[in-house]
Amino acid sequence: VLPKISLVATAVAATILLIGCGDDAAPTGPVVLKTAFNQSENNPQYKALVSFSDKLEAATNGRYKLEIHPNELLGDQRASLELVQSGAIQMAVVANPLVENFNKNFSVLAMPYVYDNPDHQRKVFTSGVLDNLFASTKGTGFEVITAYTAGARSVYTKGAAVTSPADMQGKKIRVMQSDTMIKMLSCMGGTGVPMGQGEVYSAIQQGVLDGAENNEITYSDLKQYEVAPYFSATRHVMVADLLVANENFIAKMDESDRELFRKLAKESTQTQFELWDKALDGARQTAKDNGAVFTEVDIKPFQERCKPLQAAMLTTPEQKALYEKIREMAE
Ligand code: GCU
Repeated sequence: VLPKISLVATAVAATILLIGCGDDAAPTGPVVLKTAFNQSENNPQYKALVSFSDKLEAATNGRYKLEIHPNELLGDQRASLELVQSGAIQMAVVANPLVENFNKNFSVLAMPYVYDNPDHQRKVFTSGVLDNLFASTKGTGFEVITAYTAGARSVYTKGAAVTSPADMQGKKIRVMQSDTMIKMLSCMGGTGVPMGQGEVYSAIQQGVLDGAENNEITYSDLKQYEVAPYFSATRHVMVADLLVANENFIAKMDESDRELFRKLAKESTQTQFELWDKALDGARQTAKDNGAVFTEVDIKPFQERCKPLQAAMLTTPEQKALYEKIREMAE
């Protein structure tokens, strides 16, 4: 009896032959860019990626498309960045602090109070002023393709609102996995505990944390209001998210495809800002409908305490130059 395996092997060999047949070969289907995303399909970043994929597919006559894996299905942001570096997947959205670990100059993009408002941030992200910075991680397996907004981050807690640095004392607040974010939390008066997003809900629920800090959309979408209903609008920092791609994958693309890819990725940033703006009110309302209490906060005392951190974040000449360029773009 012929073992099954040899039938399979014959079929595989036949397929390989077919693929190798040049013009007469059967169509092999689009090149799929596996893309890791750590939040849900409701997130404006997910929607911007879908629109990017649709446009890329149309513009390349179906030769390229994205396959987006939401909800940390491919691991948290740190793990997915490693998958991109190794080429196991092609793209991921990761927060700026994770990329700061490769080039400290990125920290300028997530400095406290570097952008005056979302419009200022949008101008910076779509102007091309960051192109050199984005290319600077080449050699480590990935490059940054474009940046997305993740709004402004505020502190939310169980128990009571925090309206002053004194209220933050002794509070364990989850931060992203980066030194800057840990330092930021201490300058605000609390203690930053680094961890991946997927663990935050249960860590607050179990009392390992007193709260976290994030934008309204993430807060609402991940239902964190259920465990930390006091949202205090500290708006202490606007941290960019970065769309990163495997370096070799990009290098191997046909030049005209690569240009198209880069252009459409940049355009997706504009789309993403619009989607973000539209989603904000709904996110706040959903949180409120589910018991969240939003408190406005005087940010000046927090700003004062964070000034030394801001100065310490501008150490290299590149950081200073970039900071100046970003500030010049404010209205
Ligand atoms: C925001 C940001 C994400 C990040 C998350 C976090 O939601 O958009 O990229 O993962 O914050 O705090 O981990």
